[in-house]
Amino acid sequence: MFFQHLEPYAGDPILSLNEAYQADPRPGKINLSIGIYFDEQGRIPNLPSVQAAEAKMLAAGGPKPYLPIEGSAAMRAAVQTLLLGADHPALAAGRVATLQTVGSSGGLRVGADFLRRWLPGSGIWISDPSWDNHRAMFEGAGLTVNSYPYYDAATGGLRFEAMCQTLAGLPKRSVVLMHVCCHNPTGVDLSPAQWQQLVPILRDRELLPYLDLAYQGYGDGIEEDAYAVRLLAQAGLSMFVANSFSKSMSVYGERAGALSVFCADADEAQLVLGQLKATVRRNYSSPAIHAAGIVSRILVDPELRPMWEAEVNGMRARIQAMRRRLHAVLSARVPGRNFDYFLTQRGMFSYTGLNPDQVARLRDEFAVYLVRSGRMCVAGLNEGNVVQTAEAMAAVLA
Ligand code: LMR
Repeated sequence: MFFQHLEPYAGDPILSLNEAYQADPRPGKINLSIGIYFDEQGRIPNLPSVQAAEAKMLAAGGPKPYLPIEGSAAMRAAVQTLLLGADHPALAAGRVATLQTVGSSGGLRVGADFLRRWLPGSGIWISDPSWDNHRAMFEGAGLTVNSYPYYDAATGGLRFEAMCQTLAGLPKRSVVLMHVCCHNPTGVDLSPAQWQQLVPILRDRELLPYLDLAYQGYGDGIEEDAYAVRLLAQAGLSMFVANSFSKSMSVYGERAGALSVFCADADEAQLVLGQLKATVRRNYSSPAIHAAGIVSRILVDPELRPMWEAEVNGMRARIQAMRRRLHAVLSARVPGRNFDYFLTQRGMFSYTGLNPDQVARLRDEFAVYLVRSGRMCVAGLNEGNVVQTAEAMAAVLA
């Protein structure tokens, strides 16, 4: 026997919870745990734009060769335009190295491995709190992970001053992981003015932003949600951007994502692309051809693109409607308590402020699943379960 000494895996705090929900036999159970968009009927939508793209792929037929290590050229170009808009100076300068990756998680990890090797003295700072897997992913790559102030439990908002102070005091060449929009887990975002205030801090302190863009379109809109990427690119900063299509195209299992590294110039971008490719080859060799076909078709096809944009707008509007519904029902059921954070926080998630005991009661007594931190996936609400959710919350808050 070789493996008797292994520590048992405690399970992932988000994915295990989703499995526990699936196994729960209680009728009327409500899944507000994992970051997945469910439609009004509680299903993961198979978007018509995605189906149409797949129909075109099927009609075209053809073989399924390995993609190049860096992924599909069509998808990589389409990702760059999605992030920056057409004709951005950073693209014209050729200073962006983009890889198609295995989800944005694959991109985050490839970037982490790259940083560990090529910027070995640099630690990474993540927001407090951040997506549960960020710390594990970067520590797993051998980086030292620290955190900067972010969420203000007292107001349900942002500790912006404290965040800026911390960033301004970091060692030079530190990496700073930031959520571009729809912060996971809190739903608390920086305003455009706050992003602008960050630029001189990042530049003067010679910090390397690592942007995570997993929810493009769920905040204010597809273009609007790319604001921070475009601002930092316009300012000429070097940075990493990992972006995902899991949520925006509802293609979770396709593992559709990308990593873009903004460099000083085109020569540096070529060097970076080369070493990113070396990192990928040592990991999973090359990404998925089906994901590339879906994404590149939807982003460039003149019929599919507007179809997809309308679908994203519809998903965002439904989440916002559910935020308003939950806020209204909760405010009526629990007078004297302020639930305005459901209206100000954006995207799929809200930080409810419920403590782990209250979250456990929600699950055990009411079959309502939230992440232990109190994070609620608002995108799991619908007209059929929002009142039940509010009543369960009211009961554990009483
Ligand atoms: C989440 O935060 O729930 C999603 O990003 C899914 C995941 O992999 O954790």
